[in-house]
This record gives sequence, structure tokens and C-alpha cells, in this order.
Amino acid sequence: MISPDPAALRSATPVVDNWLDAGWADRELRADVSVGLSSSPKELPPKWFYDDRGSELFDQITRLEEYYPTRREREILELEADAIAAASGADCLAELGSGTSTKTRILLDAFASAGQLHRYVPFDNSEATLRNAAEELVEAYPGLRVHGVVGDFEHHLGRLPLDEAERPPEAPPRAPAMVILLGSTIGNFSPAHRPAFLDAVAGATQTGDTFLLGTDLVKDADRLVAAYDDSAGITAQFNLNVLSVLNRRLGADFDLEAFEHEAVFDAHNEWIEMRLRSVRAQRVHIPALEMTVDFAAGEPMRTEISAKFRPEGVRAELGAAGLVTQRMWTDAEGDYALTLARRVRRD
Ligand code: SAH
Ligand code: AVI
Repeated sequence: MISPDPAALRSATPVVDNWLDAGWADRELRADVSVGLSSSPKELPPKWFYDDRGSELFDQITRLEEYYPTRREREILELEADAIAAASGADCLAELGSGTSTKTRILLDAFASAGQLHRYVPFDNSEATLRNAAEELVEAYPGLRVHGVVGDFEHHLGRLPLDEAERPPEAPPRAPAMVILLGSTIGNFSPAHRPAFLDAVAGATQTGDTFLLGTDLVKDADRLVAAYDDSAGITAQFNLNVLSVLNRRLGADFDLEAFEHEAVFDAHNEWIEMRLRSVRAQRVHIPALEMTVDFAAGEPMRTEISAKFRPEGVRAELGAAGLVTQRMWTDAEGDYALTLARRVRRD
């Protein structure tokens, strides 16, 4: 009998750290809901979409004909992954909002064939999705060290483990790392919050590291609205699912039949706005917050913005954070951009 190689066994087990202790996530949710539902207009932040069901629904969205961003980003990655691997020179890839890490495999393949791939750090607030992805990846990429982190990229980027271990000050600098944020997830931040987020990304990296950013581009409003209001109603289910999250975690009594999904393109702000519109006057109870919330008939509640970008704006926002654009690739239709920026020294 051949005894298993201990090194191979080690690589088949991903490390997953959970930085979201139950108490912390609960406090965040309570604060977001109590502030958001007391505001006028009412709103909920999109990060609460992604419980197990929400992550599964998002996965279905990425396969819809109308939802072109995933397809376009995949097309660019398929053409350019080798160039990205070579330009980054990285041996560690850290992915923010990694989800199922499906498209990431195109990059992992390119890095592996260039002999550059040692470490992958998926980072997501959805634990089950991250654990599944991490387990599948260690099987698919023998020798790849996977160190997943369940965390909130709005709060925990300062501790992003780009290095294998703490490095004493006299140690030689580590090899460059590449941080990636795909899927145009940056569009779910309000423009006012993007600079702080990009500063935090830059702060998590060292000079010479790179940042690969996917951004959906401004285009015809009809195509945008169709992508967020698909004919099969999957995005509607995804949107309504946030109410189930509040019912389950806060004991709320939202009636999902009493809200309608809506997606509107705001041409002034160049973002898609997803809303849940109350179909009738109703009162919702949220026992965990000792809160009652009244909705008027037809009242909208904003659940997500998904900003659309222009290439010059992407360059400028990255540059303001000390991330200098090296290359920008767009697909043949000009729907989507992938930008590789390098962290420069900031004095
Ligand atoms: N990168 C994937 C998934 C994008 S969906 C793709 O391109 O298809 C957005 C992902 O970000 C989800 O997996 C969600 O769980 C995660 N996410 C959303 N808000 C987050 C936050 N504040 N902190 C960490 N992860 C977050
Ligand atoms: C994750 N994020 C970039 C998606 C988007 O397109 O804004 C979430 C989504 N919302 C509706 N459909 C997809």
C-alpha cells in the first residue's frame, strides 16, 4: 500500500479564519437595520443579501443571459490572464468578495502555468460559500496554499494576510502580491465611500503589489435595467431575500408578498438602484430591535446601488489612492473593464 504523501495531505486542507464573530456581525446588522429603516427614504446595505440562499441566487444571476457583467469579465480574463500574471509578478493572490471563486480559476490557471502560484487568500463575509470554494480549490490545485478569511472588507482589510507569516523587520521583502476585486463589486459602494475603501486596499498592500479591479461600464439604460430585472425573476428573489435575512436574524415579520422588486437606472448618478417597493400600507415589527416600521403604499426602500463606471474615472479614483493604472482591458463590446494598478510609494 502506498502511504499518502504528508505534504499533499496538508495542501488538501484549506485554512479558514473567521474574523466575523457572531456578536460582531449581529451588532453590525442591528445598527444597519435600525439606521437604514429610520432614514428617509428607507434603505438597507447590500452586504446582507449574501446568506446561503442569497449567495446561491447571486450564482444563478451570474448565469442569466441578461446579466452580461460576469460573461464579459470572463471573456477578458480568458484573453488576458497570462498578461495579468506576468505583469503582476505576484505569487500570492488575495480576492475580496471572492464568492464561489469561479472566474478566479482562469487567473489561478495562468499563474500556475507561469509557475508563480503559491498562495490564494479568498476573503468574503459568506462563510459557507467561502469554505466550499476553498475546499474545491485545494483539490483542484495541488500544492496551492489556500488561506481563506471570513471577514468584512469594509472593516478588516488592515489585517489581510498577504504574507504567510509575520515577518521580522530585518527580513527581506516578500514577493509581490495581487489583490483582486472582480464582478464590479466596487459598484456596490456609494461613490462617497469608494475613496476610503480604495485607501484601505492600498493600505493593505506594499509598494510593488498590484490591484486588479473589475468595473461595469456606463451603457444603454435598457440593457442595464434588464440585467437587474431579469425575465426569470431571479434578481427579484435575490432582492426580496434580504427581507428573509431580517426575518430570520431579527425575528422581523416582513411579508415577502407585500414588496415588489424594482431596478431603475439613475442617469445623473450613473448607477442602477435596486429597491423593494411596499405594495400597500403596512406595519413591520422587528422584535430584536424593539422597532416597528411603517411603510406607506408604494413607498420604496433602496437595497443596492450598482454604480457604472467610465475608464477615466476608474483611473482617477485608483490614482487618488496611490494605485497607478498599468493596463486597462475592455471587452470587444466596450461593456466592461478590468484594470491592473500598481501600488506606488506614498510619502
Ligand atoms: N467575486 C464574485 C462574487 C461577487 S458577489 C464574482 O465576481 O462573481 C459579491 C461578493 O462579495 C459576495 O460573495 C458577498 O458575500 C461578498 N460581500 C459583499 N459585501 C461584503 C463585505 N462587506 N465584506 C466581505 N464580503 C462581502
Ligand atoms: C455583486 N454585485 C457587483 C452585483 C451587481 O451587479 O451590483 C450584485 C447584483 N445585484 C443584482 N444583481 C447582481
